[in-house]
Amino acid sequence: MTKQFHALVLAAGKGTRFKSEKIKVLHTLMGKPMLKIVVDSISRLKPKMTHLIVGYQKEALMEEFPGEEISFITQKPQLGTAHAVMAASKTLSKYKGDDVLIMNGDLPLISPQTLRPLLKQHQRQGNALTFMSAEMADPYGFGRLVYLDKNRIRIIEEKDATPEQRKIKKGNVGIYVFKIKDLIAALPKISNKNIKGEYYLTDIIEILSSSGKKVGVHQTKYVREIVGVNDRFELAKAVKALRMRKIESMALKGVTFYDPASTWIDFNVKIGRDTVIYPFVVLEGNSVIGKECTIYPGAHIINSSLGSGVKILSSTMIEGSRIADKTQIGPFTHLRPGNIIKTGAKVGNFVEMKNTVFGNRSKAGHLSYVGDSQVGKDVNIGAGTITCNYDGVKKNKTIIDDKVFVGSGSQLVAPVKVGKGAYIGAGSTITKDVSSEALAITRTKQKEIEGWVRKKKKK
Ligand code: UD1
Ligand code: CA
Repeated sequence: MTKQFHALVLAAGKGTRFKSEKIKVLHTLMGKPMLKIVVDSISRLKPKMTHLIVGYQKEALMEEFPGEEISFITQKPQLGTAHAVMAASKTLSKYKGDDVLIMNGDLPLISPQTLRPLLKQHQRQGNALTFMSAEMADPYGFGRLVYLDKNRIRIIEEKDATPEQRKIKKGNVGIYVFKIKDLIAALPKISNKNIKGEYYLTDIIEILSSSGKKVGVHQTKYVREIVGVNDRFELAKAVKALRMRKIESMALKGVTFYDPASTWIDFNVKIGRDTVIYPFVVLEGNSVIGKECTIYPGAHIINSSLGSGVKILSSTMIEGSRIADKTQIGPFTHLRPGNIIKTGAKVGNFVEMKNTVFGNRSKAGHLSYVGDSQVGKDVNIGAGTITCNYDGVKKNKTIIDDKVFVGSGSQLVAPVKVGKGAYIGAGSTITKDVSSEALAITRTKQKEIEGWVRKKKKK
């Protein structure tokens, strides 16, 4: 058990290197804002309280944490990482007996397992400060650890470093644990005399270690997690790493991914055992895929749930729909929001469906539009059926009862109701309710004019 601690995440910076209207930490990785990923990782360690330093676009940031117990502290203007912590010193001074974990908001790959040993080492050694460091193959952009003597350490930022110092591989990760009272005492000693003219939090390492305070270096072995996201290409690399991590963990729990590299999967997506995911599948939002499903190439599933044994055939888009067990959707189907597809149903080639309940074992196999409808069990929707749900002013409902047969090329002009077991003759335009077990047919009788073609040619 780690002792209780406060958490402080620095997120006030604009992230200039992102070249974006939106601040850096609001950019998403697999559907989740960077800052939220960081805060969620920290939450797993159960801090006493989490404080966020916010500045640019703070309202938008705050909206990402509805109902969460987070204290927001504003830093304005933004004059560096130490200046950000100074903004919190009044708040922190209320908890002088505690520790605080301070972390940069742009480290989305850090997992709770990597933070835990840092906290443990800090407590075990009784340090004033323990900070995380890593031996990096490419430490570009990170502050480097320079040992002034055995106990005194200085961090030199990339921009302030000499070419010689830039060769140092030991980098400062950007995660620190302090005794709050030592942090507060040392903060005012930080100056802004450096190339960027900023107050660097990293200067506190030299200040504390030179004044005889115990400063510990926590050398992490999880180097793959040490990715500071400063620009969009680093974001792309972080997304890739995070995605592979998620796919690996799902694969180890029994999901087959034929081609992880071409599979997109959002943070919150869940997939059941023995489901098979083909290449070029995109699963987004809070989608839940059941057991023993097969998702073929080109499927794009957003905020939808699938039961078990579902087949999604190629090039199919599904949004905001609930799909029950043993159904088959696709190829080339578009399920727009609000559908409930019940057990054993089939929705096939070039069918668009919206806001429709589609009953057990019912089928719409070809080229149809079914919108704002309630379709019962064992219904057959013939090729080219259209529910005319919009009268130019409002949307109207089509009700099709169990075992109805809708012949091909029919239009059902809503509001309209087709009774149980009724038949609609192919090519009909249905404008009135149809009684149960009746045949409704509206097309004109076929007539034939003998020899018509021959006569026409003679003219
Ligand atoms: C910082 C460290 C560097 C370390 C690196 C690791 C300093 C001076 N340098 O550099 O040693 O190797 O992180 O990723 O700390 N922020 C504020 N207010 C500010 C400035 C920044 O809240 O006034 C926040 C940013 O939003 C960001 C975090 O602090 O989330 C880090 O700032 P950033 O500019 O990315 O620092 P680095 O240059 O990466
Ligand atoms: Ca950074």
